[in-house]
Amino acid sequence: MSTLARPSSRPHNPCFSSGPCAKRPGWSPAVLDGALVGRSHRSGPGKARLKAVIDRSAKLLGLPADYRLAIVPASDTGALELALWSLLGARGIDALAWESFGAGWVSDIKGQLGLEDVRVIEADYGEIADLGRVDPARDVVFTWNGTTSGVRVPDGEWIADDRTGLTICDATSAVFAMRLPWSKIDVATYSWQKVMGGEAAHGVIILSPRAAERLESHVPSWPMPKIFRLTKGGKLVESIFEGATINTPSMLCVEDALDGLGWAERIGGLEALIGRSEANLASIADWVDRTPWVDFLARDPATRSSTSVCLGMVDPWFARLSEDEQSAVPKRIEALLDAEGVAYDINGYRDAPPGLRIWAGATVDTADLVALFPWLDWAYATAKQELAAVA
Ligand SMILES: Cc1ncc(COP(=O)(O)O)c(C=O)c1O
Repeated sequence: MSTLARPSSRPHNPCFSSGPCAKRPGWSPAVLDGALVGRSHRSGPGKARLKAVIDRSAKLLGLPADYRLAIVPASDTGALELALWSLLGARGIDALAWESFGAGWVSDIKGQLGLEDVRVIEADYGEIADLGRVDPARDVVFTWNGTTSGVRVPDGEWIADDRTGLTICDATSAVFAMRLPWSKIDVATYSWQKVMGGEAAHGVIILSPRAAERLESHVPSWPMPKIFRLTKGGKLVESIFEGATINTPSMLCVEDALDGLGWAERIGGLEALIGRSEANLASIADWVDRTPWVDFLARDPATRSSTSVCLGMVDPWFARLSEDEQSAVPKRIEALLDAEGVAYDINGYRDAPPGLRIWAGATVDTADLVALFPWLDWAYATAKQELAAVA
């Protein structure tokens, strides 16, 4: 480390949190001025707004015409648990986990639902589970982008076209930033506060015709809470997929989701969103390449996330530290950059190896990342000097 001089310019937007993520460029609370507050979500204008979110999301994502999309309670967790509780139990399950969220779904499947014919296919932080082991005759539950390790599945080639099981995918940090092969995905879930920078609270569930068929033919052996019920009398409640939500949504959040969709449409749709996130990843990769103290946590470049970018420290000095001392370094970097108003919420996830996590989804401007890199060098050098002084 040659210098501790503070860099001269700062990111315009210091929000690099992995959720809730940065609002879109140009966002202000004024975009909510026209929100349908104080009115029923079941009124004509209320339903029209909910339906607009459904239709415009499906269009932007390029969903096949026979796929359904619904707004459901309790964010991505609510949407994914709705899927697990409603669909599982009909056949054996392959549950994939290579970081904290995947591990959470495994604990739902085994610990809460008590299902026994479950093969857990795991890998450690930085690695990806052996996708080749997935059996197309079984249901598979997986996370497209592991937000806490920055490891994503590289593609959908490992999913058989003629599978008989369902593919149930937690896609929350992937959707709108990564190309998802819809013909390979039977259920996808996400929330608004990730790539689109929307407000938290609501989840979205996408169902293929095969998933809809399972919902109508399979009756789970456990009780089903009202907020998970997508069927009535063995038939899908189609109105839910037209905007008649199961319970009351926030029309402020709905307005904000519409604002995000409008922004995405204006800048060029899904390809533009993916392009922004990939450009962000490329700029980080370029800085990592020329920076000796840092490296991606994801071992295989093909699995590097373009949204939740997780970085480890690879300096020999850092390797010699105790575990507690190692954890103190990214914590200090986060605090230094927070105090400078340069970057917020960039410490890695608590269960992940000590490191940094920088959101690089579509709402983040590449110029802000470029302005952040000298600050990361500065903060690392400062933290290192401080720690060396007390050692
Ligand atoms: C991959 C993944 N799954 C699930 C969740 C939980 O999402 P929510 O808080 O929207 O329920 C997150 C949140 O960061 C996530 O990144």
